[in-house]
Amino acid sequence: MLKGTAPAKINLTLEVLGRREDGYHALASVFHTLHLADEVRMEIMPADRASPLEIELEVEGFPAPADSRNSVWQAIARFWEAMPFGAQVRVWLHKCIPMQAGLGGGSSDAATVLRLLADWAHAQGLPVPDLQNIAESVGSDVPFFLRGGCAYVSGRGEHGEPLPPLPPFWWVLAKPPSVGVPTGWAYAQLRRPPLTDSEPAAPYTERLVNALKSGAIQTPDALAPYLHNDFEAVVLPAFAELRALAKQMERLEVLRVLLCGSGATLTGLCHSEAHALHAADALQQQGYWSVASCLVGGNILSQ
Ligand code: C5P
Repeated sequence: MLKGTAPAKINLTLEVLGRREDGYHALASVFHTLHLADEVRMEIMPADRASPLEIELEVEGFPAPADSRNSVWQAIARFWEAMPFGAQVRVWLHKCIPMQAGLGGGSSDAATVLRLLADWAHAQGLPVPDLQNIAESVGSDVPFFLRGGCAYVSGRGEHGEPLPPLPPFWWVLAKPPSVGVPTGWAYAQLRRPPLTDSEPAAPYTERLVNALKSGAIQTPDALAPYLHNDFEAVVLPAFAELRALAKQMERLEVLRVLLCGSGATLTGLCHSEAHALHAADALQQQGYWSVASCLVGGNILSQ
């Protein structure tokens, strides 16, 4: 049985710079993995040359599709195109990361399955296909999760430059149970103009990247002024439930409320683990899905 951990991410900055010719948007963002993670288990039973690839997916925890709509399914199918024989591949997903939450759960599951498949193929002496290529074709956020940690992410999300990870700062995450924000809808609401030839500015991301490279951020208070997400301007006005949640988080004295990706999770930067646990408990009692979690570097991926 192969086992892996698929961490969630938050975007410490997220700037959407303009529309590309392929319909996607160019972005600049600092991604960081969290301790909150899905668990992935996988079994591979190779079959003969003539047999097709059969995929079986079982999901427990938060609901997610258990068929070809799941990015895990697509990742396995793409990976297997290079294999000279069929197989039965079984995957069990224990989902602790909610869907349509802006936390990258589906993308992270797919990247973890790709890493497990690559390790397996390597151990069998089989050729390992280019994971970056497959990851890009499965989803814009998938390539980041092949490495995790902290990264400056650009392009449509597929380019990642590793950055020094931050200390394990604590956050409270929360989501109204009935609100999900479709990513495509959120991008369209931004009404960004087409990109031009000149390099678009990403001032928030640039400032944070420089601070991370110089090691200037050693406390949550030092991080708070750098946090920024362009989607807040369109997503918060559209969802009264998210504005109400933001108010509740402010009452719990978080240092800064920040939208995760295009939503619908809000995260609050906390002073300490005890602060985050207290805030998560208070928000659960108000009916929100809520957890406390801390930032992690790349090590979670090898657990
Ligand atoms: O790549 P992914 O499947 O995660 O993207 C979902 C949708 O979000 C895309 O179909 C597109 O509408 C939008 N998107 C975008 N620009 C990006 C990433 C996603 O416009 N960089």
